[in-house]
Amino acid sequence: VQTKTDDLATALPAGVYGETVLSVEHYTDHLFRFTMTRPAGFRFRSGEFAMIGLMVDGKPIYRAYSIASPAWADTLEFFSIKVPGGPLTQHLQKIQPGDTVLMRKKPTGTLVLDALTPAKRLYMFSTGTGIAPFASLIREPETFEKFDEVILTHTCREVAELKYGFDLVNEIENDELLSEVVGDKLRHYATATREDFVRTGRITDLIASGKLFEDLGVPALNPETDRAMICGSTEMLKDTKALLEAAGLTEGANNKPSQFVIERAFVG
Ligand code: A2P
Repeated sequence: VQTKTDDLATALPAGVYGETVLSVEHYTDHLFRFTMTRPAGFRFRSGEFAMIGLMVDGKPIYRAYSIASPAWADTLEFFSIKVPGGPLTQHLQKIQPGDTVLMRKKPTGTLVLDALTPAKRLYMFSTGTGIAPFASLIREPETFEKFDEVILTHTCREVAELKYGFDLVNEIENDELLSEVVGDKLRHYATATREDFVRTGRITDLIASGKLFEDLGVPALNPETDRAMICGSTEMLKDTKALLEAAGLTEGANNKPSQFVIERAFVG
């Protein structure tokens, strides 16, 4: 694997940025986050993803990664799983500050504010690394201009996997500018499914039983007042989407804003 900038300078594929890793933090054997430099000309909307890669045996390997930092930030942040034997993540999990990571020039994605029509409340439903696009959006001032209340749910198998979300919310609370923008509009609802925790259970079960709304003290899902973004595994998307549709919400897209949008979180 080539990760040194000097080696890469001549080997960079066309249409690709080579950026320098600034920090790496490992949460569990399966999860880590890293930050890297942001190319001067690189524009994206909070919630979008980019193709991230490394040179492996002389060839670039890419996977789609949600950009976890907000559009205004001067560095880029990513949250990743470590897949044993995974073509990219088996290498990516070993990066160190100073290494070079590749990024294709064009970001894209459906989890953007433009894809939702205005309403009172925005739900962000996430499992695992599906929290990444929401890490971007909860640090985006426009989110709080557009919605009075933002509810971020994060469900993981183990409690340790929830730490990234708690760190994030803490960071916002301790940031002078962001805390002012966010005020008391942001609520964080974290649950574990395979370990004991203050809150347990799949988000789909908590929606279906009504426990989520009871715990938060908010009314049940309503297309008049509520919007949602979903990011998780294929199955989680399917099941959550069915619950939203049963509540009367309709799916939107970039070119057709509506009441909820979905995107698959990073897999393999
Ligand atoms: P569970 O432990 O009950 O499978 P995964 O790593 O498999 O993507 O799972 C991440 C989290 O998403 C886990 O807490 C898991 O719960 C939950 N999950 C998996 N499948 C679904 C689904 N179809 N609907 C809702 N939550 C799900």
